[in-house]
Amino acid sequence: MPGEFQAASATQRGARVGYHPRPMNVLGLETSCDETGVAVYDTAAGGLRAEALYSQADLHAVYGGVVPEIAARDHIRCLLPLIDRVLAEAGIERPDAVAYTAGPGLVGALLVGSGMAAGLGMAWDCPVVAVHHMEGHLLAPMLESAPPEFPFLALLVSGGHSMLIAVRGLGDYTLLGTTLDDAVGEAFDKTAKLAGLGYPGGPALAKLAQDGDANAYALPRPMLGRPGFDFSFSGLKTAVMLEVRKATEAGELDKRRADIAASFQRAAVDTLVGRTLEAARAEGLERLVIAGGVGANRLLRQEMSARFPGRTFYPRAAWCTDNGAMIALAGALRLPDAGAAGEILARARWPLESLPVPGA
Ligand code: KG4
Ligand code: ZN
Repeated sequence: MPGEFQAASATQRGARVGYHPRPMNVLGLETSCDETGVAVYDTAAGGLRAEALYSQADLHAVYGGVVPEIAARDHIRCLLPLIDRVLAEAGIERPDAVAYTAGPGLVGALLVGSGMAAGLGMAWDCPVVAVHHMEGHLLAPMLESAPPEFPFLALLVSGGHSMLIAVRGLGDYTLLGTTLDDAVGEAFDKTAKLAGLGYPGGPALAKLAQDGDANAYALPRPMLGRPGFDFSFSGLKTAVMLEVRKATEAGELDKRRADIAASFQRAAVDTLVGRTLEAARAEGLERLVIAGGVGANRLLRQEMSARFPGRTFYPRAAWCTDNGAMIALAGALRLPDAGAAGEILARARWPLESLPVPGA
């Protein structure tokens, strides 16, 4: 099997969240894109009992992006062995509930997790919870030992989304701003591709940027200072494309690559931080959560911590990118919403604001 399983078997203590009439072990399954993630969350201990992640990145790298059919097939191959392994490491034969990512994501990939969850729910005669992937990201900081209290502002930045959300309670979400075009993770990935880096580009671009001068190019900070809290990253992407073209024509791309990466990263981070500060001020929110894959970006964390006037909360980098732990936790919190036995949900699109307050 290509790639490496990453596993954590020790119980990791985090927040004891939600109300559960009896202690529950919740198995979480994440298969929305190119990562197979499995974890067991223990509501009594308020932490994970075990988790494992298998990244398909190597399989997709040759194509320069995620191939949906390959993603679905590989989830089929990896999911059961990962579940076996995580249950063994958690020291339980069967969990008390199964949670799975029901969307948004690639439908074929989602169906693998939802079909598996439905089957396990029937076999184990236990509740099955459909989890919204972005709610999983949003709640991931609650896996840490100092979780944020409601209300807070959330900056959710991933490969498919860039959102600012006022979070006043579980399921009480007001979308303040979203991207009008590319998500910021997508902008990182596309810029990385232009700079000749592989897939997924975000982490590689951030690494290359360490050797570059962030002031070498004057790139736009789109939308800053404009009314509202929406983002737009296509102008920034085009500006980078023009600089790459100029450098290529001058035969200097190799020399210029790190400066371009650093200047892009700086412009993207300035835009995210500026917009977030504006939204927090307008909404009077003093706590900030940053989550989603781009939340792993070191410069974004540094800048936000330095400039946000209140407290900032970040999940560790491994819980910023896709993982089963956040799905197990969100499933534990959403247990009152467990669906009918055998229900299989897979939604390519699913607005976060449409989620109910649990049990309401
Ligand atoms: O949340 P995630 O794992 O998957 C989605 O739900 O999309 O986010 C993946 C995105 C990719 O675009 C990846 O390039 C980006 O997050 N990413 C980063 C970093 N780590 C992951 N972008 C910038 N800096 C990073 N360190
Ligand atoms: Zn994600």
